[in-house]
Amino acid sequence: MFEIKAKDGLARAGIFTIGDYRVKTPALMPVIHPSKMVVDVKSFGAEIVITNAYIIYKNEKLRDMALKKGVHKLIGFDGPVVTDSGSFQLAEYGDIDVTNKEIIEFQEEIGADIGTSLDIPTPPYAPYKKAKEDLKITLERAKEALSHRENMMLNSVVQGSTYADLRKWCARELSRMDFDVHPIGAVVPLLESYDYKSLVEVVMASVEYLPPSRPRHLMGAGHPMLFALAVSMGCDLFDSAAYILYANDDRLLDPSGTYKLEDLSEMPCSCNVCVEYTPQELRSMEENGRRNLIAAHNLYVSFAEIRRVRQAINEGSLMELVDQRCRAHPRLLDAYRKMLNYQELIEKYDPVSKRSAFFYTGPESLRRVEVYRHHKRLNRLPKKKGVALLSVYNKPYSRHVPVDIGEFFSPVPVEVDEWQFMVVDIPFGIIPLELDEFYPFSQNESPSILDFESENFIRSIIKKLEENYKTIIVSKDINERFNLGFKFRVDPPSFRVSDKDRLVAVADYQFGEGAGEALFKGDLQIIKSKKTGRIRYIYVDDELIASIRTSDGFIIPSWKGASLLHSSLDYPRCRVVVDEESEPFAREGKNIFAKFVIECDKNIRANDEVLIVNEDDELLATGKSLLCSEEILDFNYGQAIKTRRGGR
Ligand code: GUN
Ligand code: ZN
Repeated sequence: MFEIKAKDGLARAGIFTIGDYRVKTPALMPVIHPSKMVVDVKSFGAEIVITNAYIIYKNEKLRDMALKKGVHKLIGFDGPVVTDSGSFQLAEYGDIDVTNKEIIEFQEEIGADIGTSLDIPTPPYAPYKKAKEDLKITLERAKEALSHRENMMLNSVVQGSTYADLRKWCARELSRMDFDVHPIGAVVPLLESYDYKSLVEVVMASVEYLPPSRPRHLMGAGHPMLFALAVSMGCDLFDSAAYILYANDDRLLDPSGTYKLEDLSEMPCSCNVCVEYTPQELRSMEENGRRNLIAAHNLYVSFAEIRRVRQAINEGSLMELVDQRCRAHPRLLDAYRKMLNYQELIEKYDPVSKRSAFFYTGPESLRRVEVYRHHKRLNRLPKKKGVALLSVYNKPYSRHVPVDIGEFFSPVPVEVDEWQFMVVDIPFGIIPLELDEFYPFSQNESPSILDFESENFIRSIIKKLEENYKTIIVSKDINERFNLGFKFRVDPPSFRVSDKDRLVAVADYQFGEGAGEALFKGDLQIIKSKKTGRIRYIYVDDELIASIRTSDGFIIPSWKGASLLHSSLDYPRCRVVVDEESEPFAREGKNIFAKFVIECDKNIRANDEVLIVNEDDELLATGKSLLCSEEILDFNYGQAIKTRRGGR
């Protein structure tokens, strides 16, 4: 029912199938008030909407009409309609007069596509005991909703106030039950008080334990300045009452904040309203007409931002967008920095290769997941005990090494025996020169290390290197720029990265330790591109072992290459295990659907090259994973592996 088409960090761009409708996610659901419909939201790009079943239930006229004609006719929308249960009214007014069972059955009767049980939105910073008691009721009601639903899909809201452990507990409990969508609730007070940092804690705690195969809805977050950040934390659905609520107050939404009509001398965007009217004309208009025009502008910019976010996921540039958006308000910047603390979680979901280059956008870029992953994966390379030579070069690094390597300095007198050449650069720190054509090192635009403010940066790199090398030697420019005071001159051996060293390092870095040794032993014949000089194909004894993908430097093993990896890397490394039923399809080279996968290596990330095997660990095919291991195992729908070649 939910299928991921593209990923970036925790963000997913996908298709959510609801009955006969297919909705592109991340999606924005305009809130439709059942008796106050003022704009045709479909004309702005709405594929799905949300309305409130409790308001309909409480109003005799609306209720009769909804029961007779259905909620779609009532609100005039012929796409999927989500209904909320009245929980929000419960939070606002303290009490409502409908039971969980009644409101679930009512939503079913009026033909809602996705209904919601009567969760309790415990406010932020409620006493822990109260939050826990409320949560128990929320969970009971969720369970009860399951027993009363017939055809309707079901929302099940994550609550737990601002307590990470309660949010996690709730998410884990709900993930074991058969729900279709998981809203994250009771965040509106956090948004109203600009407490975006707590929002990050609440969302991350919930998302960590929610099943990746179900869409997540951040309830009540309708301001477009939040979309990029929320999507980067794994949220897929948003509702917007904001478009109309802000319009009622003469306020115009924008991804960078909010404009008050009274302050505007120019209209802020290029929508029809902004092009056709001046702020003066709007101000002198009667109230309803003005409100409808501002609501139209608000919807226009909200949908434009959602499209921009989807585009960013598709090209792998969402973090650059988040960085930009979060500079709109210092509290958002706090939140963004908080979000960057969750590197371990984000790394599990982030694809290992992306279409777009890594752009340095500010000091926060140093804490992005690509950097974190690099530092982890460096451990896949064999540790050298000799000397690390640290130097600064322009990209592609190995092409810019001068013949005369220049002067090097060390803190103590040394003889250079076993050595490794390292490039030092922003934001990755140290890069073994063998990896300089691998993603994201050559697909990275950052300021030069020599212009970089932070001396701590270089000192932390040197400290890290000291763990694995006897001595660190630095080039003259580093020594001087960072006042390292290394006094002893060293003549390093003439510099060169051999093709074999490069291939072995890339294989270890990509597949894990030992892969280079498995793939590239014996007599190598290497075919290079005439145009770029880069390695394209590698043969051993006239047999093709692998090719190198131009866009990111990844090794794509041939059937022979995959067989070598398979025989030398222990189970379950790089493996995706499929069931008996799908074995013949895998052997023929057909793509692998998630529901046929029974086990896989926990280290698999989206865009990794994988070995497809049966339960006896016989190699069936090779392919590229579209998902990470958590997703492969959780999804029961859609493609998991794009098969390159079957073994037949
Ligand atoms: N709308 C905004 N917040 C909430 C919430 O926590 N629960 C429900 N059901 N609706 C909401
Ligand atoms: Zn506009």
